[in-house]
Amino acid sequence: MSDDAFYRYEPKDGHGLPHDPFAAIIAPRPIGWISSLGADGVANLAPYSFFNAFSYRPPIIGFSSSGWKDSVRNIERSREFVWNLTNESLVHAMNATAAPAAAHESEFTLAGLTMLESDLVRAPRVAESPVHMECRLTQIERLRDAGGAELETWMVLGEVVCVHIRADALRDGVFHTHEQGVVLRSGGAGDYVRVGAESVFTLERPKTAEKVRPGRD
Ligand SMILES: Cc1cc2nc3c(=O)[nH]c(=O)nc-3n(C[C@H](O)[C@H](O)[C@H](O)COP(=O)(O)O)c2cc1C
Repeated sequence: MSDDAFYRYEPKDGHGLPHDPFAAIIAPRPIGWISSLGADGVANLAPYSFFNAFSYRPPIIGFSSSGWKDSVRNIERSREFVWNLTNESLVHAMNATAAPAAAHESEFTLAGLTMLESDLVRAPRVAESPVHMECRLTQIERLRDAGGAELETWMVLGEVVCVHIRADALRDGVFHTHEQGVVLRSGGAGDYVRVGAESVFTLERPKTAEKVRPGRD
């Protein structure tokens, strides 16, 4: 393969492209729309797309914050948070909650959202969202680079202790991601992906080792 078959860069020296491709390549990412409670009792809500699930049993989800942001500070103190699903009818509200709210003002108010009391934690849920996961903090990890230097990035992990799924989001007891208009974050300054029926296909896991020819099979 010739040298120019791949564009190559080492992140420590910059990417040399008009826009950093990293977040567009590791994409689309589910959005961690996280509610937490401040020491002053004001409910905080913010989106984090460096978010995912990390354990099945027990279920553990987590997000990563570039900087010690309000959500991390609140969760460190209260040891609780709630994850709320973002669908297409909520994208503008979700985006609005990324703006830093003035002290004592909740992003719930800013985005015109309704708080719904949680069952097991004090942080409220987003009533307009079809799925909520109440979480108890398990770890806050400060990330390090390969040389061991501490970064201004914190990863927050929490065990899901209670799940709420709106009844109409279940068909025959099954949650079908593509029927909920689920929205994921892609790259660029503001690209998103909506999961539709056309983007879903099924692949069975192999039961035995078998040889495939990439791109041809
Ligand atoms: C879709 C979306 C995804 C975001 N993902 C992240 C992220 O993964 N990490 C991060 O630090 N900030 C992220 N942000 C920015 C935060 O939401 C923003 O800094 C917010 O004000 C943090 O709120 P807080 O200080 O109340 O926690 C994202 C913003 C948007 C709109």
